[in-house]
Amino acid sequence: MRMRAQEESGSPRPAVALGVSGSIAAYKSVELASRLTQAGVDVHVLMTGNATRLVAPLTFMTVSRFPVTVDLWEIDNWRPQHVALAELVDLLLVAPATANFLGKLAGGIADDALSTFALSFDGPVMVAPAMNPRMWAHPAVRDNCRRLAERGVRFVGPEPGRVACGDLEEAGRMSEPPVILRAVSAALRVLGEKVSESPRRRILVTAGPTVEPLDPVRFVGNRSSGRMGYAVAECAVAAGHEVTLISGPAQLPRPAGCRFIPVNTAEEMARATREQFANADLLVMAAAVADYRPAATSPQKIKKEGSPEQMLRLVETEDILRSLAAGKRQSQVIVGFAAETENLAANALAKLRRKKLDWLVANDVSRTDVGFASQDNEATLYGADGSCRELARADKQALAARILARVLRGKPKPLNP
Ligand code: CTP
Repeated sequence: MRMRAQEESGSPRPAVALGVSGSIAAYKSVELASRLTQAGVDVHVLMTGNATRLVAPLTFMTVSRFPVTVDLWEIDNWRPQHVALAELVDLLLVAPATANFLGKLAGGIADDALSTFALSFDGPVMVAPAMNPRMWAHPAVRDNCRRLAERGVRFVGPEPGRVACGDLEEAGRMSEPPVILRAVSAALRVLGEKVSESPRRRILVTAGPTVEPLDPVRFVGNRSSGRMGYAVAECAVAAGHEVTLISGPAQLPRPAGCRFIPVNTAEEMARATREQFANADLLVMAAAVADYRPAATSPQKIKKEGSPEQMLRLVETEDILRSLAAGKRQSQVIVGFAAETENLAANALAKLRRKKLDWLVANDVSRTDVGFASQDNEATLYGADGSCRELARADKQALAARILARVLRGKPKPLNP
């Protein structure tokens, strides 16, 4: 794989083959190609003949700055282009993937450049289907998708919403480019960090802030964006695990391919996490759960006449991590997060022991360049075995992949059980 060659050469550019088959959603793939290129990825586009009736190869060539492969008989020196490409790219993304393309891939049919490339490529394959919802629901398509998923092909979408034939409630519409891009970048991170894909684990992730209502218009909250937890969920999905994401209100697109449980308050998060924990192998508690909530929530807007002290009477919330780690626990591995503004190492280690965690990711939230509400993070991963690993500054998905790579290797042996 090219990523391996890169590691040796020190070159940082990952490469993706973008397969475009004949759905009108092909116009959105131009944005995908453009955004991937801008993100520093080499994008090699392969189009089916039908796709070229909808978007010109020249458009993709201009945004990706690489030749576009359409013809099976295009020969690069002595090798066909689709074979040469298979050794050059890290991942194949087919977006849009039509019912016809999925059927050909499931059946091992290779009758054009894209389908032939797909069989000659042995790296990870991701598809973003797009078709009429009745086609998506057809037993033949369902059967093909099941076979592809069993072979490790990752699906992004489709989603309900507007398709060329109208506004529909059933799934068929291709996922939006930002959602596909997050899935692709997570897959590249997972490859780069060699995150373990087997055995397939059930991973429970919590993310975002909780909001504790005072009345119908006011709440006590915090500045967590949810990005770190979402990045963990995206990378866990990319590595093929079964992921449930419990999220407080975050302004982020839902990661593709996971079960999503939205919550608002700490109490709702505690209930949902407890319910899901029994069926999980790994809990990553990245949520910034409120430590306190208003003692009472007024059903009406609180008037100014009352006393402010009365308005902000707070009571403690349940410490979700602590009660899950101390309660009846099977073999689950538990990862906590520690947001600190001072004495990072001492506070983090004390928290790891106090909450009986297996791992703790500690970061300094007093900094504005990393951490809360930032794209990047820098952290230290402490283990119950006394291990300590610095996770150098990187975007949150890269950090998430590093955390998963480590914690999926197994449970650390506690120093003082
Ligand atoms: N946490 C939790 N339930 C709470 C509060 C926090 O499960 N009610 C979890 C967070 O999701 C995080 C970890 O505990 O994984 C540590 O959160 P943090 O706010 O850093 O620590 P606290 O336990 O709240 O301690 P302190 O605020 O005193 O540092």
